[in-house]
Amino acid sequence: MKTIESLGDLAGKKVFVRSDYNVPLDENGEITDDGRIRAALPTLKKLLGDGARIINAAHLGRPKGQVNPKLSLAPVAKRLSELLGQPVVLAADTTGEDAHAKAAALKDGEILLLENVRFDGRENSKDDAERAEIAAEYASLADVFVSDGFGVVHRKQASVYDVASKLPSAAGLLVQKEIEALSKGTDNPAHPYTVVLGGSKVSDKIPVIDNLIEKADRILIGGGMAFTFLKAEGKEVGTSLLEEDKVETAKEYLAKAKEKGVEIVLPVDEVVAAKFDRDAAGDVVSVDDIPADKMGLDIGPETVKLFASKIADAKTVVWNGPVGVFEFPTFAKGTAGIAEAIQDAPGFTIVGGGDSAAAVRLLGFDESKFNHISTGGGASLEFLEGKELPGIAVLED
Ligand code: 3PG
Repeated sequence: MKTIESLGDLAGKKVFVRSDYNVPLDENGEITDDGRIRAALPTLKKLLGDGARIINAAHLGRPKGQVNPKLSLAPVAKRLSELLGQPVVLAADTTGEDAHAKAAALKDGEILLLENVRFDGRENSKDDAERAEIAAEYASLADVFVSDGFGVVHRKQASVYDVASKLPSAAGLLVQKEIEALSKGTDNPAHPYTVVLGGSKVSDKIPVIDNLIEKADRILIGGGMAFTFLKAEGKEVGTSLLEEDKVETAKEYLAKAKEKGVEIVLPVDEVVAAKFDRDAAGDVVSVDDIPADKMGLDIGPETVKLFASKIADAKTVVWNGPVGVFEFPTFAKGTAGIAEAIQDAPGFTIVGGGDSAAAVRLLGFDESKFNHISTGGGASLEFLEGKELPGIAVLED
């Protein structure tokens, strides 16, 4: 993969930097988790320190080609400016007059943020020619391209993919770091290798299971997806989340794992409740006794202990997906227990982005105790699936 060094001396050069600032906002438009903005800082600081002039591009939400003031990057520009300790000028448009005027006015070591690239439908058009057109407009603003929005590299979009063929290009420090760390879970991982999968649906995780069953020694399954596996083992799961049409697939995975000597570890107890509600009371029951009128909303304490024992001696741990409804305090103990086991594990630990990364932060864990917390949601999942990511492929030497 091409690195920033391959672009030569960038002092005085205009650098088009794609970042991923797709951050959660509250009802007042305030950023509730600035993790992705902080993750962008090393590349930006390096380039600014080298005297480059940065034209920074990013998306927020899915405005579908319409200007939507609620999805303006203004709150991002403000937070970025605080974190960088210098002004971040926000353009009123993406490749229009204002963007060009402000880009032309940049001095060495200054940064301009373009408005949400998805306000223009050409950015994520399925039509190659439309994307090429706006990519050429981005390219006309700069001398080189640095791709650093890891969370969006699985998208074949103009500011991620097409612009790379119009300018000398390289991966930024975040993209490099993500690929290096996530590769430890896919290329020759150190054994024993434990994978923890959670989240609600088996169907979302099928490609990951497919890829990792070839590499891991143990796959621990929690969250809503566990019930389809428990059903495949002949257990009754009450009103828990169940994908009836995936029970056969779950059976096939259980058989395949046995054949390959991979341990699939399922919950042995669950915290069940009468309804999906923040204030619902939770009871711990064995997975053999889930009442017909109750649903499992978290793994139980025995399961936490069991899973922790499979994490403790692992040399590689990958975690993707919460094992319970961690947003509700009564059902957060399982996810907190897994996060704790992973933070204490001596092996190389990877939190695969999206909800599990949010859980680590929301539950107050010290991020530095994990070897890698990915900024990618879909991107890290697709990477673990072994898929080619367009925004990475385009940066290969
Ligand atoms: C994300 O939030 O995972 C990335 O920013 C990609 O966003 P998207 O799913 O809207 O393309």
